Amino acid sequence: MKKKNIIITGANGNLGTAVVKKFLYEGYHVIATVLHQAAIETLDSHAELEVRLVDLSKEAEVTFFIEETLEKHEVIDAALMLAGGFSMGNIEKTSASDLMKMYSLNFETAYNIIRPLFPHMIEKGYGRLVVVGARPALDPDAGKNMIAYALSKSLLIKLAEYLNAASKGKNVTTTVIIPSTIDTPENRKSMPAANFENWVKASQIADLMEVICSEKGSPVREGMIKVYGNL
Ligand SMILES: NC(=O)c1ccc[n+]([C@@H]2O[C@H](COP(=O)([O-])OP(=O)(O)OC[C@H]3O[C@@H](n4cnc5c(N)ncnc54)[C@H](OP(=O)(O)O)[C@@H]3O)[C@@H](O)[C@H]2O)c1
Repeated sequence: MKKKNIIITGANGNLGTAVVKKFLYEGYHVIATVLHQAAIETLDSHAELEVRLVDLSKEAEVTFFIEETLEKHEVIDAALMLAGGFSMGNIEKTSASDLMKMYSLNFETAYNIIRPLFPHMIEKGYGRLVVVGARPALDPDAGKNMIAYALSKSLLIKLAEYLNAASKGKNVTTTVIIPSTIDTPENRKSMPAANFENWVKASQIADLMEVICSEKGSPVREGMIKVYGNL
């Protein structure tokens, strides 16, 4: 059977590392994107892994990357938009430029990939897109202290709704994964008193993403999966 081609952004991140590993293990051809040259060396080499240096906040650069990738592989079956980041701040502490930084980091980095890829998937009659939201985008009590982050992630949730409306009946789906706190070294350092056992593991999210992209996940439409661990 022909290997499926999958784009995974933020490949050297906490979640990205686990997700790349899972999809390589499951026999995919992985086209991983990283932002910095130094990140390339952090990824274990694999015959089915190609790593591309792309600044996902730059629309022209991303469009070129997608065009080149389509020329090389002809088909992209799936894309997982994992690149993103976090910032704290209630309304008093969040300037318009703070908003734009989070918008760029969380929304544009996904949008710039999806925009050129979506018509390709519609044309092929198959595609699996996954974006990563965050709990504060759904929970105002958490979102009020992370305004820019929560707003940028809520835009991704809305984007998924619009994409699913646009692709109805076309076998192209956009699923939103909504983690609360992922068990990462950074989170352990910033919340040392927390019970880490309650946090969702990156490998658990990777497993879910693989199901979504697999035959088992084929009936899922308009998916929004809350992965809150035991919180
Ligand atoms: N960690 C959590 O508890 C948590 C909770 C809810 C949601 N999430 C979301 O889950 C996703 C993954 O989180 P994570 O903990 O794995 O984050 P992470 O370790 O900080 O990884 C983020 C990745 O995005 C890349 N990136 C940032 N800006 C980019 C750009 N302009 N172009 C290309 N790549 C860029 C980073 O590259 P560099 O390493 O080179 O900067 C890094 O590889 C994010 O969307 C995050 O918002 C995380």
